[in-house]
Amino acid sequence: MVVGGGSAVITRKGATEMMKLVVTSLQRVLATLFAFATLLVFLNCVHANAVSEKVSDSQDPIGSARTPPFAPSLKRSGELRYLLKHDCGSCHGMTLKGGLGPALTRDALKGRSVEEIASVIRYGRSALGMPPWSPFLSQEEALWLAGILKDED
Ligand code: HEC
Repeated sequence: MVVGGGSAVITRKGATEMMKLVVTSLQRVLATLFAFATLLVFLNCVHANAVSEKVSDSQDPIGSARTPPFAPSLKRSGELRYLLKHDCGSCHGMTLKGGLGPALTRDALKGRSVEEIASVIRYGRSALGMPPWSPFLSQEEALWLAGILKDED
């Protein structure tokens, strides 16, 4: 009887330990689920943003001669010009007269609208070796750069 009572105590202790274990592992599972859900929501937002950007881009009237009423800050325009010279220049030539990629001079881009150029800058032509730059500049900034390419020598 005494031994039986003792083992009952041990069992109760064991049960408490078990409960603790179960609770801890439940907490872990919940934490993982929560982290996963947060990640999903985040990814969904990023995706929704990308989609809505694409939609609004495609609504731009292609070929319109509209000059974008946007100018980046002095600092940002310096950064964008640096990008143009060094990053774009690595393929299109330091003076943008052509290299691995075609020339981006005013003459070369005569037949292209700023919207078209901005879209190539943002989304690239991956199959043809032109990488997408959308992670590095906004649609407005791409339009601005496109305007520079079309206006400046
Ligand atoms: C890794 C090399 C590479 C880099 C870096 C690169 N390009 Fe290109 N780019 C290309 C190639 C190759 C093409 C030609 C794609 C084709 O045949 O349509 C191209 C095409 C273009 C076109 C279309 C020209 C036309 O006449 O249709 C524009 C505009 C352009 N690039 C702008 C840029 C700008 C602006 C940058 C920098 C933000 C840049 N590229 C960076 C390789 C590059």
